[in-house]
This record gives sequence, C-alpha cells and structure tokens, in this order.
Amino acid sequence: MEAKTIKKIGVLTSGGDSPGMNAAIRAVVRAGFYYDIEMYGIYRGYEGMISNDIKKLESKHITHVLERGGTFLKSARSAEFRTPEGRQIAYNNLKSHGIDALVVIGGDGSLTGAHLFYKEFGVPAIGLPGTIDNDLSGTDSTIGFDTACNTAIEAIDKIRDTATSHDRLFFVEVMGRDAGFIAINAGIGSAAAAILIPEKKMPIEHLVDKLRIRTKAKKASNIVIVAEGGKSGGATEIAALVSKHLPYYDIKVTILGHLQRGGSPSSYDRLLASKLGVSAIEGLLQGKYDVMAGLINNKVVYTPIKKAIVDDKSVDEDDFRVAKILST
Ligand code: F6P
Repeated sequence: MEAKTIKKIGVLTSGGDSPGMNAAIRAVVRAGFYYDIEMYGIYRGYEGMISNDIKKLESKHITHVLERGGTFLKSARSAEFRTPEGRQIAYNNLKSHGIDALVVIGGDGSLTGAHLFYKEFGVPAIGLPGTIDNDLSGTDSTIGFDTACNTAIEAIDKIRDTATSHDRLFFVEVMGRDAGFIAINAGIGSAAAAILIPEKKMPIEHLVDKLRIRTKAKKASNIVIVAEGGKSGGATEIAALVSKHLPYYDIKVTILGHLQRGGSPSSYDRLLASKLGVSAIEGLLQGKYDVMAGLINNKVVYTPIKKAIVDDKSVDEDDFRVAKILST
C-alpha cells in the first residue's frame, strides 16, 4: 500500500489496562517527535474520541511515565464506539484536530475498533498488543503479560509460605479472561500441584487423584492454579467440588484479581513496549495500515489486525508436559 502523508498521529489505550502501556505510549510519542510528527493523546480510549477528549502531547507529558503502571491516557471499554453513529462522531472529532493516523494500544476488542475505523473511514491505524492475557496472535508476548506473571508468582510464593505452615490446600485464581497463559506460566513458575485452564478439560476426578497421590507422597504444600473463565467455574467452585472428595483437607481460596493488572512493568515489558512503540510509528510512515505490530523470535512482525485477533493462539502443549513432570 502506498503510504499517505502523515503529519498528526493520535494515540490511545483501550480496554483493560496492562503494565507497560505507559512505556508504549512514551515510545510512540518519542518516535513521533523523532520523525517530526505532531502527537495527540486521546483520553479514555474510544470514549475520549467520541467526547473529544483529545490533547496535543508534549515532551513533558511523557517524562517519567515509562516505569509507571496503568496508563496516563486512561482507559475504558466504549459501548458507543460499537455503533456506526458513535464511530461517525469519533471520526468527526479526529478530523477537527486534523489527526490523520492512529495508534491503538489494547486487546482484541480495542484492535477490532481500529480495524473497523480503518475499514469505514480509511484512517491509517496500527495496533499494539496491550493486555495481560497474552491472547493475541502475531506476537510471542503481549505488553503486560510478563509483569502480570511475575506479580502472580510473587503472590503465590507468599501464599505458599502460609499454606506450608498450616498444611493447607490452596486454590489460587488468576486472570486471563478465557485464556490460560497467565495460569500456565505462573503455575510452572510457582511449582503448582495442578493447573486448570479453560482451553484444556481436566475432569475433577483426575485432579482429586493427583492431590491424593501428592498427599501420600507427603508433599509439603499443595497449590492449585485455576484460570478464570473455565467451564466448571473459578477457584471457588473448583475448591467446593474438591472438598467433597477430600473432606480431610483444610482448603482455602485466593482470587488474585486486579492486582495482576497493576505495578511497574518488568524489564521485558519495558523493552517490548519500547520496540513496538517505535515500530508503530515507523509502520505507519511506511504505509502499513490495519496491522498489529508484534515481536516474534525477537523480530518485529506486522500482522493484519483481523488475523491477530482470531482466537487461535494456544498454550504450548510442551508447557503441559513440563508442568506434569514437575508436579508428580
Ligand atoms: O483483559 C484483561 C482482563 O484483566 C482479563 O484478564 C479479565 O478477565 C478482565 O480484563 C477484567 O476486566 P474488568 O477490569 O473490566 O473487570
């Protein structure tokens, strides 16, 4: 595709925030300045595009943000942007500022918005994968996933201390919407007794058998990681089912929840966000539209947004094999 002349670029974060979003915004804005582009911040994602909460960004806006969790541009899930009328208002507002291209940082819903906007109005748009869930194709890791796994592991380590002291069985629920990436990583990284994820069915009897074997082997503590989004429910529901089979266990449940979304980004997420932020601007200038910039084998890859959001990224089978070997 022939590159359009781009003088003003708008950047937004949308959907669930993730650690590293600030680092990504900073990289996008710095790279924009490097290429003599005027940069605009669109606040609260597509909500701000509709309410015209759009401001010209200067260097001072991106000072000391790289290391901060959350997103200084704020984030939202916009129902109005899902309607053609909402998108028309958003487009009119963009035009009123003379913004001629967009960088959208977010998960699949946010990238779908960028795709629609490009399709309907021809606004050059590029997406960056910003979600703790890691459920986007076209990148080995999404911005925030590594930090979320580290946060989960740190929390589980602490739970293990008390689990061991009291000989308790803990069910720890981690985020991921309907994907098990955080669960499998945090599970292997914290020596979990078992890991339950939505993509793979584990009959409750198997889990109970596994726990019985571990009890016989006199394992010091048992922590089961449960990804949210499973068909049989979350940690609370699984714990209730297991307690019927293993009444002698003192069972506790911890739901890690939104703490996995906060905190200063890890070095990996900072690097990823920085590389992809620069790639977003360079991609737009080279005429790469309606794509998501990702990192595969440490190389920047541009994948059509429609392909990146398809639900076909799966947890590595080998991770299961490793988890099984290490938990017996
Ligand atoms: O997509 C990120 C995520 O944190 C998911 O893991 C989780 O299911 C969801 O967002 C929670 O969304 P909210 O913050 O709107 O409750």
